[in-house]
Amino acid sequence: MNKLRIGVVGAGQMGIGIAQVSAQAKLSVLLFDSNHEQLKSKLSYLHSILSKQVEKGKLKAEDKDAIVNLIRPVFRLEDLRETDFVVEAVKECVDVKASLISSLSNILQSGAILATNTSSISITKLASKYKDPTRVIGMHFMNPVPLMKLVEVINGLQTSAETLKATIELSHHLGKTVTVSKDIPGFIANRLLMPYINEAIYALQEGIASREDIDTTMKLGTNVPMGPLTLADFVGLDTCLAIMKVLHNELGDSKYRPAPLLATYVDAGFLGKKSGRGFYEYK
Ligand code: CAA
Repeated sequence: MNKLRIGVVGAGQMGIGIAQVSAQAKLSVLLFDSNHEQLKSKLSYLHSILSKQVEKGKLKAEDKDAIVNLIRPVFRLEDLRETDFVVEAVKECVDVKASLISSLSNILQSGAILATNTSSISITKLASKYKDPTRVIGMHFMNPVPLMKLVEVINGLQTSAETLKATIELSHHLGKTVTVSKDIPGFIANRLLMPYINEAIYALQEGIASREDIDTTMKLGTNVPMGPLTLADFVGLDTCLAIMKVLHNELGDSKYRPAPLLATYVDAGFLGKKSGRGFYEYK
């Protein structure tokens, strides 16, 4: 396992977390993002997170250096040719992911596995863009990746048993617990989580209670670490809307209709914590 060469595509919140946990598990990582500034800024963010851990005595300085040294930024997609296991974590948009997977189809070696970190898009559909759909699988990490223990693994129609086994082994090596879901929109996590968040937004829209009271009720009443509106801000309102649209379009049931207030906020650029404003305001 230690010789496995990991590729990560997309240096967003998820991609940098996947690179971090891979390097912490002593795997070498090539990290690609078409936006070079984003790539550099996320790497310096990782340095600062790890430095804080060193300052607090939670991590040895040499371990921090080892983690950082295992992650190599690359600036051309072709540089991922020498990897064995690639996780793509680009924007949650079917066209963006499909186009990336078509490009990777011409680059990766035949034995490589391609995992897509989608939260709701069909693995079967994405795998159809790849030269060997038996080597494509869903690997849904939770945010923040270094702190969350779960990886949801999803088989596409043609995913092989060998690919599933290797993906579960890698997830365990990264210290994660695995659940396996069928390739149905939203899988397990978002089939349950997003309608809950969406309903909280309807409750706010209907004036049932204030944002604080909705969150406090669920936080203290059901022992979750964050209320649903805070969690929506944390996940990103654009991501929540995209997932609700997938559930609504693909499952065709009106119970998945995205709350109009969610769509309005996204239109306004209120995307949650990352944009400084969502249901709450952030500095
Ligand atoms: N690496 C290592 N350590 C890190 C870190 C990183 N990248 N980021 C933060 N930490 C550290 C912090 O520095 C902090 O350390 P100290 O205890 O020494 O201060 C520690 O981890 C905990 O951080 P916080 O103080 O921020 O911790 P918290 O107790 O408030 O917990 C949380 C934060 C884990 C995010 C918690 O609020 C939580 O569980 N929230 C819910 C998260 C959730 O539900 N995620 C799933 C979202 S849905 C999803 O991802 C799927 C999808 O498809 C949409």
